[in-house]
Amino acid sequence: MLPRVAVVIMAAGKGTRLKSQLPKVLHEVGGKPLLAHVVAAASRVVPPADIFAIIGHEASRVRAALASTGIRFVLQEEQRGTGHALMVAQSALSGYDHVIVLSGDAPQITPQTIAQLLNFHLDEHAAMTLLSADLDNPTGYGRVLRKGSRSAEVQAIVEEKSASPAQKKIREINAGFYVFDVSLLFEHIKKLSTANPHSEYYLTDMAEVLRLARQRVVVWKTTNSVEVLGANTRVELSFIDYQMRMRKTHALMDAGVSIFYPASCVIDNDVEIASDTVLEPFVQILGRTRIGANCRIRSYSVIRDSEIADGVHIRPGCILEEARIGPNAVLGPYSHLRPGSDIGEAAHVGNFVETKKIKLGKGSKANHLTYLGDAEIGAGVNIGAGTITCNYDGVHKHTTVIEDGVFIGSDSTLVAPVRVGKGAYVAAASCVTENVPEDALALGRARQITKEGWASKKRAALNSPGKNDGSEKKLPPK
Ligand code: UD1
Ligand code: CA
Repeated sequence: MLPRVAVVIMAAGKGTRLKSQLPKVLHEVGGKPLLAHVVAAASRVVPPADIFAIIGHEASRVRAALASTGIRFVLQEEQRGTGHALMVAQSALSGYDHVIVLSGDAPQITPQTIAQLLNFHLDEHAAMTLLSADLDNPTGYGRVLRKGSRSAEVQAIVEEKSASPAQKKIREINAGFYVFDVSLLFEHIKKLSTANPHSEYYLTDMAEVLRLARQRVVVWKTTNSVEVLGANTRVELSFIDYQMRMRKTHALMDAGVSIFYPASCVIDNDVEIASDTVLEPFVQILGRTRIGANCRIRSYSVIRDSEIADGVHIRPGCILEEARIGPNAVLGPYSHLRPGSDIGEAAHVGNFVETKKIKLGKGSKANHLTYLGDAEIGAGVNIGAGTITCNYDGVHKHTTVIEDGVFIGSDSTLVAPVRVGKGAYVAAASCVTENVPEDALALGRARQITKEGWASKKRAALNSPGKNDGSEKKLPPK
C-alpha cells in the first residue's frame, strides 16, 4: 500500500528581522507571497487537501491570502519554535504515515527536490530525513553534523547561535526541509527542550533526539543551493526576488521573447509571453498577464493581469489593469486602460486616453485625450479628441452605446445613458443628452456669434491716451 504523505509548511513566525507589520510569509518575491511559492511547489507533490500551513502571527491575513489554494490551516497561537509548530500539528497528522516539513520563508524549493527528498527518506527507511546544501556563506543557518564525512547518517544539527568556532566552519547547512515518519516523530517529540539561546523548541533537535532513541536520521544534499535560501531580512528578500526574476527573463528569452536590458524589467513568475514579442527596457509585466506573439511592449509600460493577443503594439508609458487587447491593436503613448477594458482587433487607443469597463470594436479609434467608461462601442468608430462619456450621476453608473461606423466629433460629451445609432455623426463640441438615430447628425452646442472688426476696435480703445493709466500694458498695433 502507498504510504499516506502530508506536507506541513511552517508559516506562523512573525519575521522579527523584517521589521514589518506584514507577517513574513506574506512578503512578496517574484510578485507573490513567499508562502504562495512554497504552496505551489508542494501542490505538485501532494494534493492541496494534504497540505497544512501552520499559521499564528496575523493568522487571519495569512489564511485569507492563501484561501483560494485549497490547503488546510493549523493555528499555532503562541510561536514557541519550529519544534512547537509540529507539536500543534499532531492531531491534523494522525491519518498520515510520513510528513514532509517545509519552511514558509524559503520560496525557491522545487517540486523535484521535495519528491527526491521523500523518495530518499522512504528508500532509507529513515525516521527523519533532512535536506542540506553547501553554502559559501553558511552564516545564520543550522549546520549538519554527520556521523562520518561519507555517511548519510546524521549526528545532530547545531544552530548558529550554539555552534562552536569549529562547527561554524562547516559549510553544509540545514535547509529547514525534512521528512519524518509521523509515528516516530510524535513518539519522541516530547523530548524536545527549550534549553537554548532562544528558549524555543527547535525542530532541528529532533535529529539528536531520534538518534539517541536509536532511530535512523539521514541527510540528502542538493547541489542546487539557491533552492534552500530563506528570506529572513529585506536584503535576503530582494536577493531572492532578483534571482527569481532573472530566471524568469532567461526562461522567456529561451522561449523566443526578446528582452532588452532584462535587469530593468520586472516580470512576475506567472506571466506568459509568446515568441517574437519584444520587451523594451523598464517595463513591468505583472500578475497573471498573458501576452501573445509578435507584440512590442515599449518602455515604461506597467501591465497587470491583462490578456494581450498577437501583434499588439504598446507604445511607451501605458498602464493596463485587467484589460483585454485584441490582435494588432495599438495603444499609447500614455494610455490608461482600467479593469474591464476590452479593446478589439486593430483598434487604436492613444495619448492620454483613459478607459474603464468598455468594449471598443474592431478597427475603432480613440486617439487623443479622452475618457471612455461604461461604454459599448462598435466597429469602425472614430472617437474625436477630448470626447468624454459622462457615465456617473453621483450615485449610479450608466452606459453609453455607440454603434458601428459612428463619428464622434472632438470635444463631445455623451451624457449616459445614451445611444448613438449606426453611422450617425455627432458634431464637434456637442453635449449629447438624447439618443441619436441611425445615420443622423446630432448638433448639441451653442451657435457661433461673429463680431466683425471687434478686435481692432478693442485695441484702439486700449491704446488711446487717457484711457490707459499705465497699469496695463499697451497692446501692439496690428
Ligand atoms: C531554521 C532552522 C535552521 C535552518 C534554517 C533554514 C530551526 C531551529 N532552525 O532557522 O537550522 O538552517 O531554518 O532556513 O528550526 N515558524 C513557525 N512557528 C514557530 C517558529 C517558526 O511556524 O514557532 C516558522 C517561521 O514562520 C518560518 C519557519 O518556521 O517560516 C522557520 O523559522 P525561522 O525562525 O525562520 O528559522 P531560522 O532561524 O531561519
Ligand atoms: Ca528562516
